[in-house]
Amino acid sequence: MIQETHVLDRPPEGAAADWTIPQNWDGYTQEDHGVWDTLLERQMKLLPGRAAQAYMNGLEALRLSERGIPNFEELSERLMKLTGWQVVAVPGLVPDDVFFEHMANRRFVAGNFIRRPDQLDYIQEPDVFHDVFGHVPMLADPRFADYLEAYGRGGLRALDLGMLKQLGRLYWYTVEFGLVRDEEGLRIYGSGIVSSSAESRFALESDSPNRIGFDLRRVMRTEYRIDDFQQNYFVIDSFDDLLRQTTETDFAPLYDSIRELPDIPIAAILEKDEVITHGTQEYARSKAEG
Ligand code: PHE
Ligand code: FE
Repeated sequence: MIQETHVLDRPPEGAAADWTIPQNWDGYTQEDHGVWDTLLERQMKLLPGRAAQAYMNGLEALRLSERGIPNFEELSERLMKLTGWQVVAVPGLVPDDVFFEHMANRRFVAGNFIRRPDQLDYIQEPDVFHDVFGHVPMLADPRFADYLEAYGRGGLRALDLGMLKQLGRLYWYTVEFGLVRDEEGLRIYGSGIVSSSAESRFALESDSPNRIGFDLRRVMRTEYRIDDFQQNYFVIDSFDDLLRQTTETDFAPLYDSIRELPDIPIAAILEKDEVITHGTQEYARSKAEG
């Protein structure tokens, strides 16, 4: 997940200088594995026909469709062979530069704790189910693997240029909440969607949210919400296209061109948008009215 609040400024007791900690796989209880299995079963019923082919392939290749919280060392071994990525454990949120530095070196940082059985549908901080089931399958895809490494380097650069908020929106609307026009039709690939049973359906099937063709500058200007289903989803044409657009563009001039422009409010539709669904926003409205 993207970094939000209460981040420490140095590694806590027991963490290495790069903030990593042992996963401590033996420390998981039966109840912990049971929570994983419950979430896993729900998603395995929902995702075929909804999740992108690249995501489904990654699940199988990494054996993330099998039961039990995965052991990061075994998972990393499989992932390393496919795309050179590893999964390392960290104690919750880490500072932005640490997050990007790991990513630029093909290390995906994941929380090692799992939500409680009474928190199946909502958690404040990303846990191992979100981080591993949600994010890691896409890392088995060579194009997405390259995209995320490039994103890590881009993050370090955005920090220097003071444009983290704008670059963070790209992460949000692709890595976390992205949709793709797959060969079979519209599909989900964002980790925040594929790890949520309710949003897996909402993102594709609800009339409420907008679905808009991906546009890099537009995305970087668009606000987002962290407390409920998204009101906007952006749809990429393919992972090749996402990789090409982001790596072949030097973001420094792009940042300059949007620095003075206003942010785009969450549910706004612009004249230039390629509108796939003009959402009713009924869901957000009913929530706001309580
Ligand atoms: N091209 C970007 C830059 O110039 C780096 C980047 C690549 C950022 C891919 C995000 C994703 O900063
Ligand atoms: Fe995430």
